Amino acid sequence: MATPVAPGPATIRVRVPAKINLALGVGGVDADGYHRLTTVFQAVSLHDELTAQWDEPGLFSIAMSGEGTDLVAADDSNLAMRAARLVAERFGPESALGVRMTVKKSIPVAGGMAGGSADAAAALLACSVLWDLDADLEELRELGGELGADVPFSMLGGTAIGTGRGDELVPVLTRGAHHWVLAVADVGLSTPTVFRRFDELQPGGCDLAMPTELLNALASGDSVALGRHLHNDLAEAAIDLRPQLQQTLDAGLEFGALGAIVSGSGPTCAFLCRNEESAVALSVRLGAEGVARAVRRVRGPVPGARLIS
Ligand code: C5P
Repeated sequence: MATPVAPGPATIRVRVPAKINLALGVGGVDADGYHRLTTVFQAVSLHDELTAQWDEPGLFSIAMSGEGTDLVAADDSNLAMRAARLVAERFGPESALGVRMTVKKSIPVAGGMAGGSADAAAALLACSVLWDLDADLEELRELGGELGADVPFSMLGGTAIGTGRGDELVPVLTRGAHHWVLAVADVGLSTPTVFRRFDELQPGGCDLAMPTELLNALASGDSVALGRHLHNDLAEAAIDLRPQLQQTLDAGLEFGALGAIVSGSGPTCAFLCRNEESAVALSVRLGAEGVARAVRRVRGPVPGARLIS
C-alpha cells in the first residue's frame, strides 16, 4: 500500500523538556488511586526530541534512541504511542491516520524527571500538527491529563503550581534563571513503587499547604531562600529504597549547593547553584566524587513542548 500524501510538512520535530519538582507535597489517596499533590514544577534545559512522519493509515510506530531506551518498550504500551492513538481517536478520523515516530532521549529513564510524560506531550503536539487536526493547546493539555499526571506540565513548561493529581496547573511568576546540577543514578526507580513506600511510611499522606516561602523566593529571584525551601515529601521513601541518595544529597551540599532535592520520585538529585560558575564547579566535584552515573548542568525555567524547524 502506498504511503498517503501528507497535507502538511513531511517531518514534524518537537523538543520537550524534563521537569524537577521544587516543592512536592503529597496528601492522601483519592478514589482514582492517585495521591493529591501540591507541587511546584520547573521545566529545565534537558530535552527529548521527537519526530513524527506520516505512515499508512492505521500504522503507528516508534523507535527510540539514547541512554536507557533499551528499558522502554517501543510498542503500544509506550506512552508516546498511547498519546498518538489517543489524539487520532479524539480528533481523527482515526482510520485515515498513521504515524512513524522517533525519539532521541536525553531525559533519564525512570529518573523522576517525567521523561515518559515528556515524550507523550511531544507526541500529542507533533501528531496534531502532522495530521493538521483541529485541536488547540488547551485541548491537548486536557488529553495529556488522561495519559499521566505530569503530561500537562510537560506541554506547558516554565514554572507552575500543580494541584489535584499534579495536572491542574497555574503558572508561577519567577525572576531570573536558575542554575541546577543534576546527579543521574545508574538504575532508575519506579514511581508507583516510591508512592507505595510513601504510603507505608506516611499512612494517610502529609498535610498539603501552599509552599508560600518558596513561591516568594521564586518571585523575588532569591536563590538562597529558594535553596532553603526546596522540599519533597517523597524523598524519605526514595531514600529508604535507595539509601545512597542521602550520600549524593549530602555531597552536593558539602560542595556548596544552595539546596538539594530528590527530583520527583527519584532517583535523580537536583542541586541549586548560585550562578553558572558555581554550577560548573559543583558538577566537576560531583563528577570526580563518582556519586552518580552522570552529572548534568541545566537551566530553568524553559518552555514546554515546542515545534522546532
Ligand atoms: O500519572 P503517572 O502515570 O505519571 O503516574 C505514575 C504512578 O505514580 C501512578 O500509577 C501512581 O502510582 C503514582 N502517582 C500517584 N499520585 C499522583 C501521581 C502519580 O499515586 N498524583
